[in-house]
Amino acid sequence: MTQDELKQAVAREAIKHVVEDAVIGVGTGSTASLFIDELARMKNRIAGAVASSEGSAERLKGRGIRVLDLNSVNELPVYIDGADEITEHLAMIKGGGGALTREKIVAAVAKKFVCIADESKLVPVLGKFPLPVEVIAMARAYVARQMVRLGGQPKLRQGITTDNGNIILDVWGLSILNPVELETALNNIAGVVTNGLFARRRADVLLLGTKTGVRTIARK
Ligand code: A5P
Repeated sequence: MTQDELKQAVAREAIKHVVEDAVIGVGTGSTASLFIDELARMKNRIAGAVASSEGSAERLKGRGIRVLDLNSVNELPVYIDGADEITEHLAMIKGGGGALTREKIVAAVAKKFVCIADESKLVPVLGKFPLPVEVIAMARAYVARQMVRLGGQPKLRQGITTDNGNIILDVWGLSILNPVELETALNNIAGVVTNGLFARRRADVLLLGTKTGVRTIARK
């Protein structure tokens, strides 16, 4: 099975977690895009969707799914999104697609976070994938220096501004043994909008696409 087929399999499996007649939180990235296509098949049985990026909102609308503003939604029973890395404890690195801030907001609102990923994303320790950090542009050099102090090598992501008008530093070389601690520490640096560690609000369920089928790992 190819990586795309594994992503397709988890996107299909995620439909089982969709709550009928409710608003669904929808993430960003290639796996989330495949999920949007699956969700379109049952669009008449959901109240609509909240998207974690402008890109996903466009795709949802293009598939005839109503997109709501998060501020108009009282409850979000489930959020379905991919990850760049995830551990067995369901802590993640996200933001490879640059949508980390909105992803973190939607994940915070949602009652249940279902992560959909192919098996290449499962890692024993987070940090091989460079950690995305969304930064206010005027703080770029300061935040970069703080990243070096923490043992990382920051690199400005070229040619992109986030949906919120900010820049992204991708931080290489961090071996993240305590993701909750690091997530909190990074949040306290002036100029950091969001970091791509999702450890304080982990996933609740991981649907992992493997060559032998979809493996479900639930939060303990
Ligand atoms: C988007 O900002 C990311 O957090 C994505 O969820 C992540 O990059 C996974 O993307 P793929 O499904 O394309 O691997």
